[in-house]
Amino acid sequence: MPSNLTKAVIPAAGLGTRFLPATKAMPKEMLPVVDKPAIQYVVEEAVKAGLKDVLMITGRNKTALENHFDRVAELEATLEKKGDHEKLEKVNFSTDLADLHYVRQGDPKGLGHAVLRAKMHVGDEPFAVLLGDDIIDDRDVLLERMLEQQQTRNATIVALLEVDPSVAHMYGVATVEPTDEDDVVKITGLVEKPAKGTAPSNLAVIGRYVLRPEVFEVLERTEPGKGGEIQLTDALQELAGDESIAGGVYGVVFRGRRYDTGDRLDYIKAIVQLAVDREDLGPGLRPWLKDFVGELD
Ligand code: UTP
Repeated sequence: MPSNLTKAVIPAAGLGTRFLPATKAMPKEMLPVVDKPAIQYVVEEAVKAGLKDVLMITGRNKTALENHFDRVAELEATLEKKGDHEKLEKVNFSTDLADLHYVRQGDPKGLGHAVLRAKMHVGDEPFAVLLGDDIIDDRDVLLERMLEQQQTRNATIVALLEVDPSVAHMYGVATVEPTDEDDVVKITGLVEKPAKGTAPSNLAVIGRYVLRPEVFEVLERTEPGKGGEIQLTDALQELAGDESIAGGVYGVVFRGRRYDTGDRLDYIKAIVQLAVDREDLGPGLRPWLKDFVGELD
């Protein structure tokens, strides 16, 4: 069933402190993953799922983000003059990708606060939230399935990933009940970054959400939680506990490839995994990688 949702919100206003000093003057969402900034993968994913109206929540250093999706007349003219149409196409592709809008967050007071900044633009319709540093491999399907579930259940939908219990304390973690669909669970509770050993399950929330507009009222009254930030997880916990607000919360369990490019180790893995499968880079990278790994202790 094709979804009639049109809007995606991409929060990209975090400080990216795990990546300092690289992110001192540049948003982490602009870090290149092979040859594209992380954020472009995310915008491409939204567009592929039919969400062409994209609102980016930006913070300090927003210029690099805006410029990436804007025209660069001088560069275009130079490539045109050289007759380098392949590169020109790449440049134009990111310019024409989506109908992009920007709003600033001011102070980065948390993901919930960032999402609340989208209220005016989103209005009274369901919308998707895609975190700007979280990449879903485009060979795997997630967002389309979440949009379909939103339409069928008229509820709030979050993406879940089975993680090793030893890392559950780094995520929002869900308490769930099964549904009649293998990859869908009903969420009865959510806790942000539970203390080690106390996570209610190994199902962690990852950076994709399909929300109903009622979430804004909840966010408006959500007090700062973990880390003194307004947490989206806390608002979702309220929605999970009271179905009358927005139809309850369901999780789509994702079993594909996902890269958290805001984490240094995952960032390196993302580049290697994506590059080995590329036609232009894979043939050169694979044999080198095998030799390199063979020489490791
Ligand atoms: P993270 O918690 O990974 O971002 O937020 P961070 O705070 O920038 O990371 P570190 O821990 O300091 O390295 C997940 C997503 O939410 C956005 C981030 O930009 C990222 O895409 N975010 C987070 C906001 O837009 N605003 C915020 O106040 C916080």
